[in-house]
Amino acid sequence: LSKSTQFDWRLADDDIAGSRAHARALGRAGLLTADELQRMEDALDELQRRVDSGAFAPIEDDEDEATALERGLLQIAGDELGGKLRAGRSRNDQIAALIRMWLRRHSRIIAKMLLGLAATLIEQSEKAGRTVMPGRTHMQHAQPVLLAHQLMAHVWPLLRDVERLADWDKRIDASPYGSGALAGNTLGLEPVAVARELGFSKVTANSIDGTASRDLVAEFAFIAAMAGVDLSRLSEEIIIWNTQEFAFVRLDDAYSTGSSIMPQKKNPDFAELIRGKSGRVYGNLVQLLVTMKGLPLAYNKDLQEDKEGALDTAHTLMQCLSVMAGMISTWTVNEDAMACEGGVGHLAATDVADYLAKRGLPFREAHAVVGHLVLMCEKRSCNLEDLPFEVFQEASPLFEHDITEALDIPSIVAARTTEGGTAPAAVAVQLERAEAQLVADEGVFGSLTKVVEMGHGAK
Ligand code: ARG
Repeated sequence: LSKSTQFDWRLADDDIAGSRAHARALGRAGLLTADELQRMEDALDELQRRVDSGAFAPIEDDEDEATALERGLLQIAGDELGGKLRAGRSRNDQIAALIRMWLRRHSRIIAKMLLGLAATLIEQSEKAGRTVMPGRTHMQHAQPVLLAHQLMAHVWPLLRDVERLADWDKRIDASPYGSGALAGNTLGLEPVAVARELGFSKVTANSIDGTASRDLVAEFAFIAAMAGVDLSRLSEEIIIWNTQEFAFVRLDDAYSTGSSIMPQKKNPDFAELIRGKSGRVYGNLVQLLVTMKGLPLAYNKDLQEDKEGALDTAHTLMQCLSVMAGMISTWTVNEDAMACEGGVGHLAATDVADYLAKRGLPFREAHAVVGHLVLMCEKRSCNLEDLPFEVFQEASPLFEHDITEALDIPSIVAARTTEGGTAPAAVAVQLERAEAQLVADEGVFGSLTKVVEMGHGAK
């Protein structure tokens, strides 16, 4: 029950980096001679090589990654020297530091991938030009919008996720190393120096808090869960757009799968899986919150349960992000299917009511007039733009021949010029803003405290 190597072995690199920094702190405090420190560092290098090559791995009796690595170090350095590394640290402050290191490193990769997906959507929005599609509320035809506008509505949440990660990084940028089991250490080690070596700009302010809290792991899990929501909503859009009824997009063969029985099928499995995987990411967040709830200070072994979900969350999200970007950059957009003219629904209805309001009719009444016109359309099975002019005039004497403009989809779209609106000019401004934001967010990540790069890719 207490064995955790099956999921925490992925922290081995971070653990060895921590041990190296700790050994140097022991050296500076006079607890290792210069020669011992040298031999300790050599032993840690050798241990890293064995871990990398797979020559050293946890065995059944190892409780966690830390006990496994201590066993490995003793094999290389011997009991006398290897045994000295335990001084002034505890697995409690170690593990609290390691999960922070691992998450910070992977959050950089995730942020880059989120920005990459945002860039893909921006590119598609630019490609979409003035293509118009029916915008919906309640899944019902509402008002015409630019396809670019709709796609960009998926970009901003992604950019906010990136900003959340950058903001979270400021809080998680503190090292618990040196907190010991809970109360600090007596050996005169310098936690600040260790922190710097491990990529942190400072030390946690309270050793009890440093070893016992996992709120920052939970906050990461939330940000990832929110990104999961964003990906899931985008997936849902793709799945609907890829149906025969909509046929707005066609997924590339690489991103669709067949059915073992129905030869005609091209299923959007990957979009469905991304939608489905978001569920496990939310589950990981909830599991973590429930695990932390009501734990007494300081460290409790319950906290070992923070890692499996957090690591899974990061890996799941990275997988989904890379697939999503590929799926969107290779899809084919069917602009004809999106065209609003002659489509079902009455996308011009609001603009016809606006037409009357602009001519002095209270909007409440204008709304009722257009409601009546829509009813007429339904009787005749036609659209607002197909009604003869006389029908408009019967409904209200305020209608004049220029009503055809209020019924013209490109004019309707072009009229919504306010900031954030769907007019091509407004969307062009939005695109510029998003591109600038993308560059700024890349810059924010570049300027964050450097994390320790492990150079072994995503373990
Ligand atoms: N494997 C443990 C964890 O992940 C490390 C800390 C163990 N500490 C202890 N006192 N048993 O939380």
